[in-house]
Amino acid sequence: MSDSSRLRLLNAMEGDPRGEFAAAVREGLSASPKRLPCRFFYDGEGSRLFERICQLPEYYLTRVEAQILSGGASEIAGCVGTVRSVIELGSGIAQKTEILLEALLRRTGQLLYCPIDVCEDVVQAGAGRMLPRYAGLRITAAIGEYEAGLARLQKHIEAPALLLWLGSNIGNLDREASAAFLRRVAAALPRDSFMVIGVDLRKDRRVLEAAYDDAAGVTSAFNKNILGRINRELGGEFAVDEFEHRARYVEDAGRIEMHLISRRGQHVRIEALGMSASFEPGEAVHTEDSYKYSEEEVDQLLMRAGLECLRRDRDDGGRFAVVTARAMAHARR
Ligand code: AVI
Repeated sequence: MSDSSRLRLLNAMEGDPRGEFAAAVREGLSASPKRLPCRFFYDGEGSRLFERICQLPEYYLTRVEAQILSGGASEIAGCVGTVRSVIELGSGIAQKTEILLEALLRRTGQLLYCPIDVCEDVVQAGAGRMLPRYAGLRITAAIGEYEAGLARLQKHIEAPALLLWLGSNIGNLDREASAAFLRRVAAALPRDSFMVIGVDLRKDRRVLEAAYDDAAGVTSAFNKNILGRINRELGGEFAVDEFEHRARYVEDAGRIEMHLISRRGQHVRIEALGMSASFEPGEAVHTEDSYKYSEEEVDQLLMRAGLECLRRDRDDGGRFAVVTARAMAHARR
């Protein structure tokens, strides 16, 4: 079969994405304190900036998770047996995923990979890299948000299935929402499905803050891109450099908080919303939380999500954990 005939792209964009962005911007910039949800970081430009973040020396998450996957791929593959499909939430270009797919293909020879991502370009880039390399791989991708993507893939998924949620994507939901989300996901998957989840662990503040405020300023550009996106899509008039990127570790809560800080008092017109947003000097717009876990918090997460832990792989420095789990039968509804 040719490479292109093994790729299928499904549209899982629900409703009116531009309308949702507009509503979130109106609500978030009218609120006190102001906020913009991090799920809107990922337009084309935001996705490209995120791929650059993943290569930064300070952003250890991607590198360390890839090391853990490289070291543990055969064991993880052995643990999940002969899965026929692999679904991935927020796949991006799926560089690390390939390590696991390769180990699974070594066992089964054939695999259906179902990435879910809001950005079609990055999914295409991942497929373009992997399909020529693996003759036994087919890709059915859903372009959209996690749950809409899962619903769209429902009739394509072949059991037994493995769901991947790598890269500490779980960290962008709060602890309660993550557990509730994992329960819903488990209920949407075929019975006896497995999950592999990448979790960033609590650690020294300096390491964390450097990871979210790199010397080259890529994370700053990534954070400010949400203002650029308002300019491009909603006729906003933000001078993005009139805002400063800030990333702080809030130790009690175990999370990095990202904000954009207004350097001065300013009024910014957003044409498509027929509004102006006013900012005090030093006023913060909260753009992202990124939760970090202790080993106990990982245990609590699994318990609340109704997942049974099968393996927990960590790097030597204890910076990151890759958890292999299975939904417990009683937790499915
Ligand atoms: C996508 N997500 C897991 C990243 C994180 O680490 O929370 C997003 C990110 N924000 C700043 N740098 C990376």
